[in-house]
This record gives sequence, C-alpha cells and structure tokens, in this order.
Amino acid sequence: MERTAINLGGVELGSSVMNASGPRSAERGELYELSAVHTGPVVFKSCNMAGLEEPENLRNRGIEHFAAIARELRSRGKIVVASVVGTSDGELAGVARTLDEAGVNIIELNLADDYVQRALAPFASIERLGSLLEAVRGATRAVLAVKMPPAGLSLEPRALAHRMKSAGVGILVCANDLPKDLDIDIRSATVTGEPRALSQVHRFYREAAGALDIVAVGGVNRGRDAYVAHLTGAKAVQVGSAIIKEGAGALGRIDRELDTLLAENGKRSVSEIIGTVGFSG
Ligand SMILES: Cc1cc2nc3c(=O)[nH]c(=O)nc-3n(C[C@H](O)[C@H](O)[C@H](O)COP(=O)(O)O)c2cc1C
Repeated sequence: MERTAINLGGVELGSSVMNASGPRSAERGELYELSAVHTGPVVFKSCNMAGLEEPENLRNRGIEHFAAIARELRSRGKIVVASVVGTSDGELAGVARTLDEAGVNIIELNLADDYVQRALAPFASIERLGSLLEAVRGATRAVLAVKMPPAGLSLEPRALAHRMKSAGVGILVCANDLPKDLDIDIRSATVTGEPRALSQVHRFYREAAGALDIVAVGGVNRGRDAYVAHLTGAKAVQVGSAIIKEGAGALGRIDRELDTLLAENGKRSVSEIIGTVGFSG
C-alpha cells in the first residue's frame, strides 16, 4: 500500500504496520510467514545471548538463531527489526552487536520488560540510562529503538527524550494507552476537551518535538486503531494480540483498512496525518 509507506528513523518501510515483538515471531517458520504476508518490516521476538526458558514471555533460542534468520531475510531485501534483552550492559551490547553484524536495520532494546528492568534499572536516573544506551550505541551502527515501560517512569519525559536523542536513539516504542472512551472525530481529527496528552505515544510525540520517531504498541486491532495512533503522533504501529487471534494475515488486513481510511479522508500518505490531532475544548 503506497499510502501507508513511511520513513521510520531513516529506514524506508513499505508499510507503517508491523508485528509487535513476541507473538508468532520466535521461530523461523513464523518469521518467514510474517515476512511473506506483508510489505512492512518484520520484528523478531526479544532475544538474549544464550536463550531463555524462563520467564515464559521471553522464552527464546538465543542470538545465533536470530542472527541466522536476519542474514537470510536481509539477503532477500526484507527490513528487519530485532529486539534485544539481557541482564548486563555487556550482554545487551553484545547481542545488539551480533544482530547488527547480521545486517538488521533497526535494533529495538526491550527496556519495557520486568526481566530487564529488575536486572539493569535503566530508568533509575538519566545518567544510568545514558551509560546503558551509549554502551549499546558504541557497539552498533543500526538505527536504535527503545521500547518504553508502559508505566512507572519517574523520569521527566522531556529530559528522557533529550537523553535518548543525545545517546543516538532514533525511535521510541511507546504504549498506545488511549482512554477506552476517547471521543475522537476521525474526519476532522478532533478530540473533545482541553488539549492534553492522550497516551504515552502522544506524550512522547509532544515532548520529543520531532527529535525522535514514535512507534505505537498496544491495542492496534483495526485500521481505525492504527489511524488514531498516527493522529496522536505515531509514525508506525505494532500489532500483537490480533496476530495471536487471527494469524499473520492480521497485518495485511489492518494495512488495507488503514489505507481505505486514508483514501476516504482524502490523504495520499499516512505521513500527512501524523500528530495532527486537535482539541475542541
Ligand atoms: C505471547 C506474547 C509474547 C510477547 N513477547 C514479547 C517479547 O519477546 N518482547 C517484547 O518486547 N514484547 C513482547 N510482548 C509484548 C508485545 O510486543 C506487545 O507490546 C503487547 O502484546 C501489546 O500489544 P497488543 O495489544 O497488540 O497485544 C509479548 C506479548 C505477548 C502477548
């Protein structure tokens, strides 16, 4: 879908819609299926150096498994996003380096998971965050993304976004935690009420002031959800549960629905609507 193509962190994507790390993205067959059904990038399940059996949500076969698949998919021209976890700065940097050498386009540091937060406390202070990010940046050339914890951050968003940027991060993956009862008119891109941050995506979009690209994750099940995420500042969206429910085909469906909504609203490109939500309060 040409209308949904976008540049994310300097990487040209065939679609702003992609899978979220985890669901159906751990095994070779699953990753090939995701790659085949959709023109957007493919996102790998989070991996660490040696692989994990526990915790269950981070079970993975380890770095060599993912690096081999990355080399194969990159040789076919697929855009690859790899997700990294670890329990030391050195492990994160080492996993990121191996994936970088395998040719992945974007490295997503999964700083959202409790497993990583407990071991590394990346958000304990701005200085701590900076030293962790610089260790990874120094080991890699790929575009760096950080997946944010959806809640519990004590650091001030503007300072955090600024430090991310200065450490060489290009993309923040943020929670698409819009209120369930959000009153939004899609056609006019207007929300009822006073101007305010509508979600973590929207908050970081406003605070980063164009310095970082934002990706929305959470609750993207239909084209309309993707459209609203884009209106609130997301340059791209990630889909998790819908893929578990209906398979990899959910990506193409959401992409087509988003494309139809863009056409209905007279937009030639998804880039025309990013962050354009307004308020009628
Ligand atoms: C079974 C499962 C496994 C997941 N594994 C990971 C993972 O390895 N790394 C990660 O960053 N997020 C992981 N997630 C979180 C998803 O990437 C995503 O943030 C979450 O499912 C919210 O999106 P959704 O509302 O579309 O499901 C996982 C989620 C599920 C349901």
